[in-house]
Amino acid sequence: MAKASMVVDKEYTLAQVDKRVYGSFIEHLGRAVYKGIYQPGHPAADEMGFRRDVLELVRELNVPIVRYPGGNFVSNFFWEDSVGPKELRKKRLDLAWRTIETNEFGIQEFSKWCKKAGAEVMMAVNLGTRSVSDALNLLEYCNLDTDTYYANLRRQHGDKEPYGIKTWCMGNEMDGPWQAGHKVAVEYGRLAAETAKAMKMMDDSLEFVMCGSSGVGMSTFPEWERVTLEEAYDYVDYVSLHQYYGNQANDTADFLAMTQDLERFLHTVICTCDYVKAVRRSKKQINLSFDEWNVWYHSTEADNEKMAREPWDIAPHLLEDHYNFEDAVLVGLMLITFLKHADRVKIACLAQLVNVIAPIMTEDDGPAWRQTIFYPFLHASKYGRGMVLHCPVKCGVHDTAQHEDVTDIESVAVYDEEHGEVTIFAVNRNTTESVEFSADLRSFGADKVSVAEHLVMENTDMKAVNNAAGETVAPRASSEHKLDGGVLTTVMAPCSWNVIRFTV
Ligand code: AHR
Repeated sequence: MAKASMVVDKEYTLAQVDKRVYGSFIEHLGRAVYKGIYQPGHPAADEMGFRRDVLELVRELNVPIVRYPGGNFVSNFFWEDSVGPKELRKKRLDLAWRTIETNEFGIQEFSKWCKKAGAEVMMAVNLGTRSVSDALNLLEYCNLDTDTYYANLRRQHGDKEPYGIKTWCMGNEMDGPWQAGHKVAVEYGRLAAETAKAMKMMDDSLEFVMCGSSGVGMSTFPEWERVTLEEAYDYVDYVSLHQYYGNQANDTADFLAMTQDLERFLHTVICTCDYVKAVRRSKKQINLSFDEWNVWYHSTEADNEKMAREPWDIAPHLLEDHYNFEDAVLVGLMLITFLKHADRVKIACLAQLVNVIAPIMTEDDGPAWRQTIFYPFLHASKYGRGMVLHCPVKCGVHDTAQHEDVTDIESVAVYDEEHGEVTIFAVNRNTTESVEFSADLRSFGADKVSVAEHLVMENTDMKAVNNAAGETVAPRASSEHKLDGGVLTTVMAPCSWNVIRFTV
């Protein structure tokens, strides 16, 4: 049997996990807001119209920050239309998704929903069809406690306390020609710099995320990052990355190899940030906000058809990817990759959270339920908090259709010193062979280590899915391991997600 081994040494620390790496995203798109988090009249709705069943699942995922309100949607969003008395709110065309936005739900509702969900708001401003002054007005409305027009307007709307939003996105995917108000790099870099600069004049404790490329495949990548950062370096804190993967070729082995591309993407963006840092002789480090990531391809064809033929619906079924088992494994691999870069990836948002390419789905007249991808995200968010340890894995490699030297095992270990726990997350992405995996934890004391929990997700059917009636894809507890003098051995099934928690 193929073998893999890693040494988990508590002295080899990489970086503390920033909890915001378990962030997510709610866009005004499809049924994410309406019939997703908000559905007055549904039996599970609370007094504000928020679905309690959804809130429960969001709380289970322990999501610390949620990006809002888009996405492509934000690039032609007029936030003033979505605040104040509901009966006066304007219905608008949403050009991004060719739907009608009723504006029944806006930042007032979202900030309250986030409180109930236990999450912070990560707010995006419209730098597509709008500009600096609108961003300033929105910031004043949301955060200021002054006796001035927009702060007073919020009070008039019934919200005495400011929302205290700390993290702000300077637009969305401004490199994308599909974006309303798309810009070239210098133009966007200047606008992002001036917007962040002016917002800092209101509050210099805020943090700003600048749009990086909307995917590694963009022809302007990574020149976009270099040019925009050269303009805005002094005013922004993070550069955003977006990436979705899909198994269009129906080749599981190659699909699971795609985090090799993700590694290269991260590496290139980090190098570009540091190049600009060097050019500018700056002491400041720009970190990464991977604020859109997931599997996304199942629904694309149907969505394009729907938007072309039947536009201008309210809350239609859009981007409702029905995730299968192999998608869950890829999501696990992506999480492992982010953790392995915890020194630079400080924010990441699983896109999205409810109904739209999401771990949580709702039935309009029924319950909320967990997709397959819910589980690896849950495990990482629950147990992947603390210090990431630098522990490279020795293992075999294989080739796939588009990738060479793909490691069989991808793994990372996180040490939670406060609770005396170490968690190993590992994927065997060899689709045909089991791998005997060993982890040496003797640095914690050979007789001081015990296994607290061992969870496995494996399936012979890569296309198995969950639905409202039940879950075919869920983790099971395992006792199939041996712990001998601080060294664990276990066999990882082909194409499996494995979580091993130790008390140390
Ligand atoms: O998350 C769905 C869409 O993907 C977002 O609106 C956009 O930013 C990206 O292209």
